[in-house]
Amino acid sequence: MGNAVLGVIGGSGLYDLPELVGAEWVTVDSPWGEPSDAVRIGEVDGLKVVFLPRHGRGHRYAPSDINYRANIDVMKRCGVTSLVSVSACGSLKEEMAPGSFVLVDQFIDRTFAREKSFFGKGCVAHVSMADPVSPRLVEHIAAAGAAEGLTLHRGGTYLAMEGPQFSSLAESKLYRSWDCDVIGMTNMPEAKLAREAEICYATVAMVTDYDSWHPHHGAVDIQEIIKVLHANSDNARRLVARLAKDLPRQHEACPVGSDTALEYALMTAPEM
Ligand code: ADE
Repeated sequence: MGNAVLGVIGGSGLYDLPELVGAEWVTVDSPWGEPSDAVRIGEVDGLKVVFLPRHGRGHRYAPSDINYRANIDVMKRCGVTSLVSVSACGSLKEEMAPGSFVLVDQFIDRTFAREKSFFGKGCVAHVSMADPVSPRLVEHIAAAGAAEGLTLHRGGTYLAMEGPQFSSLAESKLYRSWDCDVIGMTNMPEAKLAREAEICYATVAMVTDYDSWHPHHGAVDIQEIIKVLHANSDNARRLVARLAKDLPRQHEACPVGSDTALEYALMTAPEM
């Protein structure tokens, strides 16, 4: 295994990582089209860190308009071996209160208006998504969170919805009946594409609200979300900075095969 390179995709509220040393914004072209922005490349104690604001600086892209393929391709081109997705979300569980972070381990993909694969038309591939996050990376994130004194929930299912509108009460109740824990608009197809790109992936889901199901919190309150978002972003920056300090400098083989996904994928050869 070679050197580890840490990638961070920052969601709503996280548009830069000031902790990076010698950082520069670098424009990386992708054959998959326009990524959300240039990437901020810098170092933390000798570890290369590549940061991309998912919605672009100034929040220019809605969840359905993000070019997820270009974003993941750019991360791959920058040598990223482990990718942390920092993402605002709603909570579908009482105990996952606004302000807390959830290290999700499963996804349900309910998005329908996005490009979801690097493959198709001549070269088809089916990678496994049984274990969509890399448990070793999650361990490192959990340790960094504990060291920073953050409230972290280990494990949970993230429901990815198309948006941009929030859920109706009936939808929110439906997802709760499926035992989902958090809901967001961006982690799919990001997680699927990271797997196809053989990049270890983990999500830090930052809870901003109780979606629309909670009897005492009413519907999603935008002012409240923004307040929580700012506090969450400060905590996320501390978490990522600590993770970057402590992550092993040699990439560790992924126990669920994220970094060798194509070796075990069902694939057809391109037509000659
Ligand atoms: N992002 C933040 N809160 C959300 C919610 N309730 N539903 C979907 N995405 C979100």
